[in-house]
Amino acid sequence: MANERLRYRMSALYVTVFAHLLVVSITTLVLFWLIKLREGFALKSDIKMKIFNLHPLLTILGFIVFSGEAILTYKAIPASRPVLKLIHFIFHLIALTTGILGVYAVFKFHNEVAIAHMYTLHSWIGLSTICLFALQLLIGLVTFVYPGAESATRARFAPWHVFFGVVIFYMAIVTVETGLSENFIFKKLQHGQEALMVNFIGLLILLFGVAVGLTSVLSLRRK
Ligand code: HEM
Ligand code: HEM
Repeated sequence: MANERLRYRMSALYVTVFAHLLVVSITTLVLFWLIKLREGFALKSDIKMKIFNLHPLLTILGFIVFSGEAILTYKAIPASRPVLKLIHFIFHLIALTTGILGVYAVFKFHNEVAIAHMYTLHSWIGLSTICLFALQLLIGLVTFVYPGAESATRARFAPWHVFFGVVIFYMAIVTVETGLSENFIFKKLQHGQEALMVNFIGLLILLFGVAVGLTSVLSLRRK
């Protein structure tokens, strides 16, 4: 039994290391794409695409990188449960704030270039993801931290929290993949460096989703 637990712990460790390599690659590629191959970023500018570019940057950093890191916390950091809970919560709070700023940027861009709002599947799934993310954060806080449910209720609720957490994380991945594809079509990208870059970012994000999901499954054998 002890051997089996150790084996699961070791597999979770390998997956976590792999996931962190993906985080570094995704962040580097997104920055390279938006700074070198596109116009860069600005909240106010006559070059309106600079405002739009904040959207993929901040939503990917928030809902993928920070939220993924928050979920990985339980495997990546050897600390006590209360400390892990705090880090998990703070990372998710940063994720939500960054993601909301990213969506604010695309609304601002749409207003400034007079494009209608909320007309695509991407925007529908995206907005649903943000609402569910905020709800999960609130329910997690109330159940596990303040005022905190009784320990039996917390134990019964934990698997549901993990399940919905993973579902919301995958909804964010679907949103990013549809956003990248939409951008590909709007920009009429064909073969070329930017097209390759965007496709690789999408593939790495998908792989990151698999790695994060796998660490959560391995957590079933943690205790
Ligand atoms: C989880 C991450 C994301 C969320 C929650 C999200 C959410 C949204 C929302 C709510 C809108 C509608 C804005 C409006 O109607 O004014 C939008 C628009 C847009 N987003 Fe995203 N987005 C995400 C990631 C991305 C990424 C990575 C890209 C890639 C470039 C992208 C590309 C676009 C484009 C091209 C639009 C304008 C067309 C449209 O409304 O669908 N999004 N996004
Ligand atoms: C949108 C926000 C959130 C998402 C997407 C989310 C997602 C997840 C996921 C996927 C796990 C499983 C991690 C693993 O064991 O590998 C988890 C565990 C956990 N989360 Fe969250 N979480 C969120 C917010 C919160 C908040 C605000 C709290 C309160 C501090 C919290 C407390 C916990 C606890 C205590 C566990 C461990 C459950 C157990 O296995 O016993 N979460 N969360």
